Amino acid sequence: MKFQLNQTTIRLHQGDITQVAAEAIVNAANSALASGGGVDGAIHRVGGPAILAECRQIKGGCPTGSAVSTTAGRLPAQRVIHTVGPVWQGGRKQEAKLLGSAYSAALFLAEEEGLTSIAFPALSTGAYGYPAEEACAVALAAVLGHLQWETVLREVIFVLFSGRDYALYQTHLQQLLATEPNLRLLANEA
Ligand code: APR
Repeated sequence: MKFQLNQTTIRLHQGDITQVAAEAIVNAANSALASGGGVDGAIHRVGGPAILAECRQIKGGCPTGSAVSTTAGRLPAQRVIHTVGPVWQGGRKQEAKLLGSAYSAALFLAEEEGLTSIAFPALSTGAYGYPAEEACAVALAAVLGHLQWETVLREVIFVLFSGRDYALYQTHLQQLLATEPNLRLLANEA
């Protein structure tokens, strides 16, 4: 499904983020930038050892809510933007703020590097336990908020692993059509 907000297309895609040919793909990393499971494991497995080698050179790692970039190794993307969402602790530990900041930091970094397309997984909703619905609302608010301003980004892709998450994003974006004056539906098909 495709939407348009100002100059940028927002696309929903169900599948594996390592197969997406966006200029930047976002990794759901941890603060130590040590390879883990989920999206992180898949990115290092498919992208090859060059990504972890570069992660190890980054002093201070990547604090929660921030982002760093590396080569994409053998992935079809040009760059991997590693960002760290919060671990869900019940919702009163600034999780929403930190999750929004993880999305924003990745968008700013992509712009800084002149990248025009970026693909996000559903940050924090796997091993970090953030409830999918709340996380979807935060992700869309952060990205749509960012796209109100001048940007070099021409495409933002939300890559959802499950049909359930895809449907969640679809429903939420359709609801936003009513309240977000600059958002419009481009195409219904996936
Ligand atoms: N492509 C797209 N989405 C995926 C993929 C994939 N290949 N693999 C998993 N997902 C989905 C999950 O279903 C989940 O909805 O991505 C979402 C995020 O899950 P995680 O990868 O577990 O990320 P997160 O919850 O942010 O936890 C990060 O997990 O492995 C570690 O090193 C990582 O410590 C960090 C933590």
